[in-house]
Amino acid sequence: MRQPIIAGNWKMNGSRASTKELLDGLMAGIDEVKTAEVAVCAPFVYLAEVRAQLSGTPIFWGAQNLSHEEKGAFTGEIAASMLLDFDCKYVIVGHSERRSLYGEDDNLVTKKYAVAHRSGLTPILCVGETLEEREKGVTEDVVARQINAVMNTLGASVLGEGVIAYEPVWAIGTGMTATPEQAQEVHAFIRRLIAEKDAHVSDNIRLQYGGSMNAGNAAELLAMEDIDGGLIGGASLKAEDFLSICRAAG
Ligand code: PGA
Repeated sequence: MRQPIIAGNWKMNGSRASTKELLDGLMAGIDEVKTAEVAVCAPFVYLAEVRAQLSGTPIFWGAQNLSHEEKGAFTGEIAASMLLDFDCKYVIVGHSERRSLYGEDDNLVTKKYAVAHRSGLTPILCVGETLEEREKGVTEDVVARQINAVMNTLGASVLGEGVIAYEPVWAIGTGMTATPEQAQEVHAFIRRLIAEKDAHVSDNIRLQYGGSMNAGNAAELLAMEDIDGGLIGGASLKAEDFLSICRAAG
């Protein structure tokens, strides 16, 4: 049985005050979440506050990015060891905004995945096609390329120690959620792709859906066989919305 995992991706939102309020709201309702694992991926500068508030609660936390280097003269970068210093469990790697706005290619994403995994963080690897790629019918090629970059370089068992988030780019922040069937189709494809290398990893790896998942559509997405959770952007910024997604996961 794969434990569902709901993770909030706060992106570049919030302040110290709003972060405190959001976390207060999450802590007030987390007892009603029975089976899902819950995590929030906060901006780096708020990790100290997140850690102080969430330590000892069932909610995990993490970051949205990290450097592929371990330490040194890399102005402005944040190392895996620093995230561990703040007891992060998760780190998002290869989010489509990083790929498209900051030029992160499969090679760099693989390096980031490797350093995160080697350090003891759990990477959440984001993959997904653009609208243009979907319309061209190359969704599976794109997703396979993004996953194979990591799987063929680091091995299926290393991939299996992370989480994969399928996030169609056209659904992110647009309100245009993939239908449960569209999402399930790609999730099933991802599982088949991994099964070619390692059936055990394929059965056990958790696959999140991301892209305009909200309190209204979470239950039907999460009911699909190969959808084991969600990576939530906009709807993770309101405690009640995020908790309602977490409850929908069980
Ligand atoms: P969204 O973002 O839920 O706001 O679409 C999801 C994500 O980018 O992880």
